[in-house]
Amino acid sequence: MIPASPPAETALPASTLIDGFGRRVDYVRFSVTDRCDFRCVYCMSERMTFLPRARILTLEELAALGRTFVELGARKIRITGGEPLVRRDVLWLFQRLGRLREHGLAELALTTNGSQLERVAAELKAAGVARLNISLDSLNPARFRRITRNGELDTVLRGLRAAQGAGFRRLKLNAVILKNRNHDEVVDLARFAVDNGLDISYIEEMPLGVIGDHDRAEAYYSSDAIRADLARAFELVPTAESTGGPSRYYRIPGCDSRIGFISPHSHNFCGDCNRVRVSAEGRLLLCLGQEHSVDLKQILRAYPCDRERLKQAIVAAMAIKPRGHDFQIGKQPVILRHMNHTGG
Ligand code: GTP
Ligand code: 5AD
Ligand code: SF4
Repeated sequence: MIPASPPAETALPASTLIDGFGRRVDYVRFSVTDRCDFRCVYCMSERMTFLPRARILTLEELAALGRTFVELGARKIRITGGEPLVRRDVLWLFQRLGRLREHGLAELALTTNGSQLERVAAELKAAGVARLNISLDSLNPARFRRITRNGELDTVLRGLRAAQGAGFRRLKLNAVILKNRNHDEVVDLARFAVDNGLDISYIEEMPLGVIGDHDRAEAYYSSDAIRADLARAFELVPTAESTGGPSRYYRIPGCDSRIGFISPHSHNFCGDCNRVRVSAEGRLLLCLGQEHSVDLKQILRAYPCDRERLKQAIVAAMAIKPRGHDFQIGKQPVILRHMNHTGG
């Protein structure tokens, strides 16, 4: 029998990025702006000061970083924010990163609040974006506005339709679940996902930055509680499927949707961590829940043509990737940066 030819990706060298705990890092997340048109209550405080333009990486610097990470074996790049699609000319970056698929990038992905998707979904698809994760915490317009402080549910739903119309498959909703805010909507959100052929991840809130809105301990609603709520309406079958991130997925028999849980508090996933992130300011952050970092912007600006120096800095940084986060419910956040600097 003639053996089937191996999938193209197995021919590529494995990532050279390995941390001190033996974890292979092949997924990098770039926060391309700290700005956002929403002010979600779990992410930001109402009044935020955003970074001046000169302090954030230019699109050219981000493109160079993308190339460098792929040369080091990164297989997946996810663009995050703030809201990435509010950054001017960001489509240029998607086009540049999309070309890295010819050089070993397996997946270019985007996490977005959906507010700009109606305008740009088709161009994102054409640029080579493979997967979109869209934040959606409520299907009730008034509640959606309270949680996002100034988001319009209808705009996001139109964006979602535009993404489906543009040919995106396996769209994933992200719902951060807060007790007494939206915990009573978990079944409705799952039904919406199932009816529309979407995946969904339910997320436990993480204590990043002072948000001044709610007490995070009081708002904690565990993944197990969500799963118990869902189990009253659906049969949930655990799977070993992964999208490369921390979501643990279940399936509902007869449905295509994956129902995921991101449970930093109740089911720590740091042991399998395969990712690092670059903040809008160009800090390579080795863990979302720690401050260990290396200033890549300084290297990019001091040595703009020295790709080797950049590579060495990234490889060396793996040694300081911590074992995991120390998030604690009920304590003041130890990480003072808000989520919009790192994009989750
Ligand atoms: P895919 O698996 O590719 O779909 O991505 P994802 O679900 O990991 O990414 P997304 O940007 O949609 O993030 C969903 C949630 O996961 C956000 O709340 C992120 O903060 C959280 N998340 C992603 N990676 C990490 C991580 O390394 N540590 C922690 N604590 N949370 C993470
Ligand atoms: N805890 C958990 N998830 C958060 N997100 C933003 N802030 C937090 C937080 N404090 C989510 C958003 C978005 C993803 C990038 O991170 O809902 O879907
Ligand atoms: Fe904006 Fe996303 Fe933060 Fe909401 S979670 S304020 S949409 S960056």
